[in-house]
Amino acid sequence: MAPTYCCVPKSVARATVCALLSWFGREARDLPWRRTHDPYAIWVAEVMLQQTRVKTVVSYWQRWMQHLPDVTALAHARPEFLRKLWEGLGYYRRVELLQRAARIIVKQYHGRFPRQWDEILALPGVGRYTAGAISSIAYNLAVPAVDGNVSRVLRRWLGRPLGKQDALAWAVAERWVKLAARCPPVRLLRLSPSGQPADAPVCPPCSAFNQALMELGATVCLPFKPLCTVCPIQQHCAYARSPATCAGAPQRRPSSIKRRLVVWVVQRRGRYLVRQRSLQECNGGFWELPTFEIPEETSDALAPSTCKWFEPLKAKPLYQLTHHITRYRYHVQVYPAKLKGNWPAGRWLTTAQLAARPMTRLSRKVLDRLLTGRGPA
Ligand code: ADE
Repeated sequence: MAPTYCCVPKSVARATVCALLSWFGREARDLPWRRTHDPYAIWVAEVMLQQTRVKTVVSYWQRWMQHLPDVTALAHARPEFLRKLWEGLGYYRRVELLQRAARIIVKQYHGRFPRQWDEILALPGVGRYTAGAISSIAYNLAVPAVDGNVSRVLRRWLGRPLGKQDALAWAVAERWVKLAARCPPVRLLRLSPSGQPADAPVCPPCSAFNQALMELGATVCLPFKPLCTVCPIQQHCAYARSPATCAGAPQRRPSSIKRRLVVWVVQRRGRYLVRQRSLQECNGGFWELPTFEIPEETSDALAPSTCKWFEPLKAKPLYQLTHHITRYRYHVQVYPAKLKGNWPAGRWLTTAQLAARPMTRLSRKVLDRLLTGRGPA
């Protein structure tokens, strides 16, 4: 049986693809990984971009590429060094998997990034989206890449409820990228060094097309406030035509789950007490100030007496802050304290040592505020 999306005429699919390609030529943001065809560089960008905004990723990617310009450098880097380069990006298992994959590439492919989609897909940490993104962007292969942004564009365009795992989303994305494969390369006007179209770098069509879908999802087809009036495919989009009745309606932002943490700041002769998280824990290998979760319902008066290892120096916290990790919203209280007994696994580090170690985002936030007196609240 023909897939149901075939009821969309080919001319409409073709017009959508053409409109997206020319829009991308005009509007593609000038991002550093768009100035390369190196599959390694594109892979690193794609992994960093999972769960992280473009604006944040740019400086991380540039620093990473300076220190680790190729697969071999990544394969041989010290894990602690990789964690330091990744510090603040979150989802730290990504960096561990990057190195595992790099070591396989060195061993099995003599350090040359594999060219086949199935070889790329077989690497640790590489799923169907990442394999599709690398294959199309670096090698111009006509394979789809559907992430959350792309599936939202497709859902609205089709006017059907569907997510990034849906077979229909992948089938439509595949049909589109195959149509794009027959189009000419696209000039990326915003990347032109002189501002003249003739100097703009040329992007092959499958690469441009998959990036166009990602770009549209990230900058126009926004989850909560889609900008349909400036959308290049609004004419063909079920949601833009009929927003009130269509399955692509903006979702409500999911509400966050409240949790509480106590962070203990223990000092001795200019050193701070910290520990390195074990590799079995989340954020494994990262360093942190002693951090303990307490039940949500704990009263403020009882919070400082919740840990047997630490005795608060003051009844009131030094300060409080809010910290978000995935869908959790942590209310964090920071207490200056002294140690009672011997906290297992604790190490005393100077501020210089702390600056050089990879720290969890929360501990870095607390330390920055402590040491500079400023920092984010
Ligand atoms: N999001 C995921 N991949 C991307 C890319 N290559 N460029 C911009 N945003 C992205």
